[in-house]
Amino acid sequence: MIPAGALCESLYLVTFDASKVRAAYPALRDGYAYLDGAAGTQVPAAVIDAIADTYRAGIGNAGGAFPASDRAGAIVAECRRAVADLTGGHPDGVILGPNMTTLTYRLADTLSRDWAPGDEVVVSRLDHDANVRPWVQAAARRDATVRWAEVDVSTTELPASQYRELLSERTRLVAVTAASNIVGTRPDVPAIAAAAHAVGALCYVDGVHATPHVRVDVRALGADFYATSAYKWSGPHIGAVVADPALLETLRPDKLVPAPDSVPGRFERGTAAFADLAGVTAAVEHLAALDPTAAGTRRERVLASMAAVEAYEGQLFAGLLGGLGETRNVTLYGKAARRAPTAWFTVAGYSPAEVAAHLAARKINVWNGDNYAWELAGALGLRDSGGAVRAGLVHYNDPAEVDRLLAAIAELAVQRVR
Ligand SMILES: Cc1ncc(COP(=O)(O)O)c(C=O)c1O
Repeated sequence: MIPAGALCESLYLVTFDASKVRAAYPALRDGYAYLDGAAGTQVPAAVIDAIADTYRAGIGNAGGAFPASDRAGAIVAECRRAVADLTGGHPDGVILGPNMTTLTYRLADTLSRDWAPGDEVVVSRLDHDANVRPWVQAAARRDATVRWAEVDVSTTELPASQYRELLSERTRLVAVTAASNIVGTRPDVPAIAAAAHAVGALCYVDGVHATPHVRVDVRALGADFYATSAYKWSGPHIGAVVADPALLETLRPDKLVPAPDSVPGRFERGTAAFADLAGVTAAVEHLAALDPTAAGTRRERVLASMAAVEAYEGQLFAGLLGGLGETRNVTLYGKAARRAPTAWFTVAGYSPAEVAAHLAARKINVWNGDNYAWELAGALGLRDSGGAVRAGLVHYNDPAEVDRLLAAIAELAVQRVR
C-alpha cells in the first residue's frame, strides 16, 4: 500500500500545472475531493461567466430582427464550431440537445424508421444503458433482431474480433462505446466501425465517458454518430451528437412543421438553452487552454491539451490503481489494456453504499451502484449486490486527492471484516 502522501512526492507532474487548473474551478475550494467526475464534472469560472454574461447582455430567441436575437443565433453557431473542434467533426453536423440519452432516443427513433423485420442491430455489454436500450427498444418496434457483443469478464475487454461473427448483410446499426463508464475499457472502435461499414451498417459511438480523457477524432474512429455530454468535460448540462452533415441530410426526424428543416436544426426540438450553449463553447476554450504552450487553431490546441490531459491522468490513475491494488480487502474490476482513468472496486466486508458513505464523511465524493452500466454490472455479477464503488479521475484531480482516497480506503481495510 502506498502510504498517504507518497503519491504527491513520487509523481513527476511538471507537464501539467494541476494547481493552476484547480484554481479555475470555484467549486473545488470547498474541501471535497471530487472523484465523481465520471458522473459529471465541476465547471470553471469562465464557463459560469459565459452563462451569466449571456443573460446579462440581454437574451432573445434566435431568428429575430434585433441584436439580442442575433446574439442567440451567434451562440448556437459558435457552439457547433466549438464541439466540432473538440471532436474533429463538422459544425453543420453537430446536433445539440439536453443530454446524450435524449438525443440517442431521438436518433434511434429516426434511424429505425426503415428497419424491417429480420434486420439486425448490434449492441454491446460494455455500454452504458443509454447506448443499449434505445436501440433494443427501437429494434423491438420493428421486429428487428438484437445481437450482443460480449465482454470478456476476465479482462474486461470487448474483443473487436467477435464482430465478424455478429455482423451480416442484415445489420443496420452497431452501437458501441468509446470507453466504459465503470471499468474504463476503451475498445478498438475503428476496427468495430470498419467491420460495420464493410456490411453497410452505421456505427453509433457513445463518447460520453471518453471525451474528457482522450483526443477525439470522429473520422479516425469511423463514427457515423458520436455522442457526447458537455457536463462530463467541464461544461453545462448539454448533450451533442456529431455526424457527417451529408448523412444527416438523408434522415427525416419528427419535427414541427414551422421548425427549421435544415441540417442539423431539424434534429433539435424547441428553443435551445442559449446561455448553456455559450457555456459549452467556454468549456471547449477551457480544454483548449490546458496546455498553455499549445499554439495554432482551436482544434490544434484541443489536441495538444488533451494529449497533456491523457498523460497527466494516466500518471494519476497509475497511482490510484497501484494503491488500491495493494490495499487489503479491495477487489478491483477493470483490466483492459487501454482505459479511461476510472476505477471500479469493492471492499470486502462493506457494501458499496457503505464505502461511499465512509468516504463522504471524509469529504471524498465517489459513486456507488451500477452507474447505469446495467449489462456490464450484470455480466460481472455485481448488479444485484449493490454494484461497486467508482472513483473517476479528471484533469482537475490531483495526487493529494488520490492519497486521501487511498488513506480512507485503507482505514476500512483494517477495520471490521464481516
Ligand atoms: C458512458 C455514458 N453514456 C451515456 C451517458 C448518459 O449521458 P446523459 O446523462 O448525457 O444522457 C452517461 C452518463 O453518465 C455515460 O457515462
